[in-house]
Amino acid sequence: MRQSSLVVVANRLPVDNSVAPDGACEWRRSPGGLVSALHPLLKHTPATWIGWAGGTGPAPALPDVDGVRLHTVPLTPEDFRDHYEGFANATLWPLYHDAVEQPEHHRRWWEAYQRVNRRFAEAAAAVTEPGGVVWVQDYHLQLVPALLRDLRPDLRIGFFLHVPFPPPELFMQLPRRAELLRGILGADLVGFQRAQAAHNFAQLVAKVFGVPATDRQIEVDGRTVRVGAFPVSIDTAEMAALAARPDVVARAERLRNDLGSPENVILSVDRMDYTKGIEHRLKAYSELIASGHVKVRDTVMVQVAVPSRERVGQYQILRDRVEREVGRINGEFGRVGEPAIHYLTQPFDRAELAALYRMADVMAVTPLRDGMNLVAKEYVAARVDDSGTLLLSEFAGAAAELPEAYQVNPHDLEGLKQGLLAALEADPEDAATRMRAMREHLHRYDIRSWVRSYLSTLDETVSAPTG
Ligand code: ADP
Ligand code: F6P
Repeated sequence: MRQSSLVVVANRLPVDNSVAPDGACEWRRSPGGLVSALHPLLKHTPATWIGWAGGTGPAPALPDVDGVRLHTVPLTPEDFRDHYEGFANATLWPLYHDAVEQPEHHRRWWEAYQRVNRRFAEAAAAVTEPGGVVWVQDYHLQLVPALLRDLRPDLRIGFFLHVPFPPPELFMQLPRRAELLRGILGADLVGFQRAQAAHNFAQLVAKVFGVPATDRQIEVDGRTVRVGAFPVSIDTAEMAALAARPDVVARAERLRNDLGSPENVILSVDRMDYTKGIEHRLKAYSELIASGHVKVRDTVMVQVAVPSRERVGQYQILRDRVEREVGRINGEFGRVGEPAIHYLTQPFDRAELAALYRMADVMAVTPLRDGMNLVAKEYVAARVDDSGTLLLSEFAGAAAELPEAYQVNPHDLEGLKQGLLAALEADPEDAATRMRAMREHLHRYDIRSWVRSYLSTLDETVSAPTG
């Protein structure tokens, strides 16, 4: 088996299974930020990416993508149901997002989580060179660091959590909380999006194991585990270049014309997820129309909501409710050819997304809780002329980095309405000053700087026993 000195382990592979024009199935590099960031690095390192290729059949053998070796881990239908849909997305996901929906606990799900994590750890153990670096990503794989350390104590192991890490009192609800923490503590460096998450983690470890733990390091089993906040970012230059492309600018103008050239366009782009606050936003918007503060002819809302995790009950219920509400609002306030909300559930390519961002005067990103929210950063990066306003939830990870956004508490309906109005009526000069500051921040702290800062900190960690 080919081995690599750097191995990324993530639930999903950095490729999409798409259908070519001739109907054949082809694998293409997926456009996500993590892939673009790691790509230049992986290309020069002999690196492997371990992940699930989607589906529940045997793992396909995939060709290298631009020099990156892809190692697929298969999931059976039971693994998919109990590990991915179950423990990952119906226990951990709601629990880690402030329990905005009720987390479910089933022993069968935990067994599947352990089984699948072991499979990923074994794959990483097999493909990493002696003394190599393994970087484990996200909540699907929290047991991998410790499992891997048992198998390969020679490796340097990093773990990064892309979603929030909950306060101790919530985490303590987990029936297998100690095992989960032990899994993460197998890493040399545990990275979070926000300092608060690193704090929550250290507090929990101190409480559960009674070991010395600060927000920067934890002493456990004679080892030092480094902890820190590394806010993930986007390929800012790439999004800016895309948004400045003449065809994208022309497309944005066409989109605006198609909307009836309104004075204002409000845009939201979300995965269909109950953490994203879609229902709260629709309610605020419909109340503003009902009270006459917003006129449908002048202002148009575009809500993109791509279906996600579609077999999970809470996601099905949400989609039904959102679609009923959009129908109600359009039925009540729209006119023929003039809906109050344009609702789209399709996936778009990057250029179309950039055109949507360029077209929108206000981007409303109002999750109830979100690890980071890259969409907010993408909108800012796309506003190359410094126009536009970003309405941002205080509960998005991005809020800590983008204080110049119009920030709101999405649970406060009146506050959300006021925020929307403030964003719509912003003074252009003030808005441009805010946008410029946010854009500068994102050019400085882009995805490359995230990768550099995480991997150089991991490099400084010492795996040797402390004593
Ligand atoms: P999450 O990781 O919870 O889905 P983020 O906002 O951090 O939320 O990331 C979402 C990513 O998915 C962004 O890069 C965004 O551009 C992309 N995305 C969202 N909606 C669509 C869509 N309709 N088509 C294509 N990409 C999308
Ligand atoms: O940001 C959290 C996350 O689970 C990512 O790991 C993932 O890329 C994204 O949301 C989409 O979720 P899924 O992989 O379940 O479609």
